[in-house]
Amino acid sequence: MPDSPRSRRSCLAVPGSSAKMIDKARGLPVDQFFLDLEDAVAPLAKAEARDRIVGALNEGGWDGKIRTVRVNDLTTEWTYQDVVRVVEGAGANLDTIILPKVSVADHVRWLDLTLTQIERALGLPVGRIGIEPQIEDARGLVEVDAIAAASPRVEALVYGPADFMASINMRSLVVGQQPPGYDVGDAYHYVLMRMLMAARAFGVQAIDGPYLQIKDVDGLRAVGGRSAALGYDGKWVLHPAQVDAVNEIFSPRQEDYDHAENILDAYEWHTSEAGGKRGAAMLGDEMIDEASRKMALVIAGKGRAAGM
Ligand code: GLV
Ligand code: MG
Repeated sequence: MPDSPRSRRSCLAVPGSSAKMIDKARGLPVDQFFLDLEDAVAPLAKAEARDRIVGALNEGGWDGKIRTVRVNDLTTEWTYQDVVRVVEGAGANLDTIILPKVSVADHVRWLDLTLTQIERALGLPVGRIGIEPQIEDARGLVEVDAIAAASPRVEALVYGPADFMASINMRSLVVGQQPPGYDVGDAYHYVLMRMLMAARAFGVQAIDGPYLQIKDVDGLRAVGGRSAALGYDGKWVLHPAQVDAVNEIFSPRQEDYDHAENILDAYEWHTSEAGGKRGAAMLGDEMIDEASRKMALVIAGKGRAAGM
């Protein structure tokens, strides 16, 4: 696991069965991509997709993006072979594994132990490959604190809105759209905030899932804007048309980033000038103290990670 969190504003979903889409993904300006073995790949195509994924990871050309594979969930017969084939074949060129439909912390522990065995057997550094559990049903949400804390490999919690909506019988077929008949607030607020609390409590990132109406960039901006405003670190993208909007939504605005860096400079200067005896400082008409320094660090950290 890296020392400081990596930028995960945009994470591109790529079917592991499509050579064409894997090739196209190399050129897109996303922070992360995942090669999918789960829902985007038909049962009879899974074995071939594993080989294609190993080849694509080893071939390289990913230009600093976080390299991720989504395996199948632990209720299927495919998971162990997904992990063994991909990590034995390309473990040195893989950064994280997304484990879907995690409903209890034991799912994460299973993956942690399996990765450790493969890393030891291959002489790879133990613990480098991270885990991103997807929260996709009511049980996973109820257990989310234990899931976030289940392994030091956990780098991010990922919301799976489509599976989640199905699992709770929500009366809507469009991800992110408020269910007809619910007009007293945002029907997604609780789950987004609950996951965010678990992520922040255990020091991992919080990632919003996909928006399926790929032509509706305004809808994407509205739905992504909500999770970004709460504090989420990024969102999945399914199509090149979604990439720019998501990178923009999850980057701090330039003026906020500049202001945050100014706060940090001013605080540092005033407090060190006072020999560590002063707790607050002024920046123009604004009073800044330790709490404002922390808020500024969040914005500056996100901006620096995004290369601003
Ligand atoms: C993603 O996996 C989702 O279920 O939305
Ligand atoms: Mg899902």
